[in-house]
Amino acid sequence: MTSTYAVLSEGLEKRFGDVHALRGLDLAVAQGTACGLLGPNGAGKTTAVRLLTTLLRPDAGSARVAGHDLLREPAAVRRRIGVTGQYASVDGDLTGRQNLRLFARLHRVRGPAERADELLERFGLAEAADRPASTYSGGMRRRLDLAASLVRRPDVLFLDEPTTGLDPGSRNRIWDAVRELTADGTTVLLTTQYLEEADQLADDIALVNQGRVAHTGSPAQFKAVIGAQVEVVVTEADVMVKAAAVLDQLTGAEPSFDHERRAVGAVTRDVTLTLPRLVRELDAAGVPLLDASLKPPTLDDVFLRLTEERAA
Ligand SMILES: Nc1ncnc2c1ncn2[C@@H]1O[C@H](COP(=O)(O)OP(=O)(O)O)[C@@H](O)[C@H]1O
Ligand SMILES: [Mg+2]
Repeated sequence: MTSTYAVLSEGLEKRFGDVHALRGLDLAVAQGTACGLLGPNGAGKTTAVRLLTTLLRPDAGSARVAGHDLLREPAAVRRRIGVTGQYASVDGDLTGRQNLRLFARLHRVRGPAERADELLERFGLAEAADRPASTYSGGMRRRLDLAASLVRRPDVLFLDEPTTGLDPGSRNRIWDAVRELTADGTTVLLTTQYLEEADQLADDIALVNQGRVAHTGSPAQFKAVIGAQVEVVVTEADVMVKAAAVLDQLTGAEPSFDHERRAVGAVTRDVTLTLPRLVRELDAAGVPLLDASLKPPTLDDVFLRLTEERAA
């Protein structure tokens, strides 16, 4: 029987000598959804991916991945998953096209040449297809790596920090590719250090801290833990009170004043508030604006708050 979870783990543990990298990881990823494993450096994210993709054996615990038992049927799990990691799997001496054809042949994909071409096109690598992969930029390399992991059309795709170290343009291309995959029904488990990335790509977030899932929820729930910081700068000191009234109405929070900068700030937990709406409301109230910003919380903000709440 296939479960409705593409990934379901219980009590996964892994030690490296004295380091207890995973201390009982419980994770449930529903089929066809994208889950973001969010956590700081050293939290255990990569270890979790390596265990769930059969690259490492757990010391304790169990898991089902893509309908198969991780420990009893590792070969079946491997056949149904794709993985791209910080450790690149493509060969720099081969061209992009050669790399993908090789993967396709290794995995006995029908029509290896066509599959390679299709993926090169999809990831914007058609023009660079006949250059050695060693000449690719970091972003191109990462896209080729992602393409290689998709050659077999996996049921579950694991992405370990897919955009860390990439420029915003490359990051957006990877995001688009991941969104297309999830729209097609592929289950995605991605790790990230950025709340923003999880917000962009994941249906659900599992916050990992010290080898355990410390908190789960939707991206909106995570952002609402802290709320976004709203700030408006007005042209004249005597409209600050008017601006504060608008912020108060929008956020329900006590506004703060920075008289020197003619700035009024507030924190909102309303995740539906957008910058255009903020500007429209202020404009409608006749507040002359110099600047307005709406900053979502960072992982650091959320992390601090959640660990404080736990301690209290
Ligand atoms: N092969 C290894 N040998 C020794 N320690 C390791 C090894 N892999 C990971 N660790 C340690 O395990 C912890 C979790 O690491 P990792 O899973 O890479 O975290 P993350 O991916 O969240 O940054 C860290 O303290 C790391 O130093
Ligand atoms: Mg890692």
